[in-house]
Amino acid sequence: MEKYKVVITGRVLPAALAALETQCQVYRWEQPTAPTLADLSGWLKDADGLFVSTNIAVNEQLLAAAPRLKVIAQPAVGYDNIDIAACTSRKIPFGNTPGVLVETTADLAFGLLLTAARRIHEGWDWVRAGKWQPGAQLPYGVDLYGKTLGIVGMGAIGSAVARRGQASGMKVIYNNRTPRADQADLKAEYCTFDQLLSEADFIVVLTPLTPESRGMFGANEFAKMKPTAYFINAARGAVVDTQALYNALQAKQIAYAALDVTDPEPLPADHPLLQLPNILIVPHIGSATTETRNRMALLAAENLLLGVEGKPLVTCVNT
Ligand code: DGY
Repeated sequence: MEKYKVVITGRVLPAALAALETQCQVYRWEQPTAPTLADLSGWLKDADGLFVSTNIAVNEQLLAAAPRLKVIAQPAVGYDNIDIAACTSRKIPFGNTPGVLVETTADLAFGLLLTAARRIHEGWDWVRAGKWQPGAQLPYGVDLYGKTLGIVGMGAIGSAVARRGQASGMKVIYNNRTPRADQADLKAEYCTFDQLLSEADFIVVLTPLTPESRGMFGANEFAKMKPTAYFINAARGAVVDTQALYNALQAKQIAYAALDVTDPEPLPADHPLLQLPNILIVPHIGSATTETRNRMALLAAENLLLGVEGKPLVTCVNT
């Protein structure tokens, strides 16, 4: 029996690759840089499935180059690089991997918050640089206990961050498009976006990147925050106007930023953000643990294998 043809756009964990190879003929882009459409088009013309493991744009142009495509799977919860409407109009199901990365990503978001608040990374740099001398003092951090945590985008990951904040004695407020029906269980208070900006001591951004949320944190929003505010972004870099964030941090309009995601991404080594003293940046590692990345890869492979057979995906965005 002829095997399904599947294009993989980059690195894929061995267990997921092995699962795909049982039923599919795999064509994998193995260069370190992301492929262009021209790089993939020779494979796409016969492809039954597309496994997006490097962040490429899946748009009309790409879909037109893949006339046989039956399914697209991506090991990530976010899918701002995928034109869902274009997939749907071609009846191509798209599967992401929600659920399996919730606690892991919440750990990282809250870890950034705690690390920034207590200057943990600066303390380590200080010790390693031999500055721990009698009388020498690292500048003080700030407490979490008794402070207000404002979560923008209270989905599953937001709720998991809320629990971590509550365990540290924080009051939790949040903003979503609509209040959550279970907010009493969450012990979190819905508020308007402006109220959250002005009341929160720590703002954690977890909202998906959509046309509405692109650039939602700009100069006006930073101006509404407390001068002591900590701003944590674990969503997508483009939710923030990078220049406005730079200006707010440089002018000490807000106290500190801790970012898992940036715009652009990766951040060039000579980017001005890296010159600021009041910022902490990690390279988009929200879901990057061995266990979680394996779960994500296996779920994406499962979605792909179901899709090539025309069966419903486990986690489908456009059903
Ligand atoms: C996600 O799953 O969307 C994470 O940000 C990893 O890309």
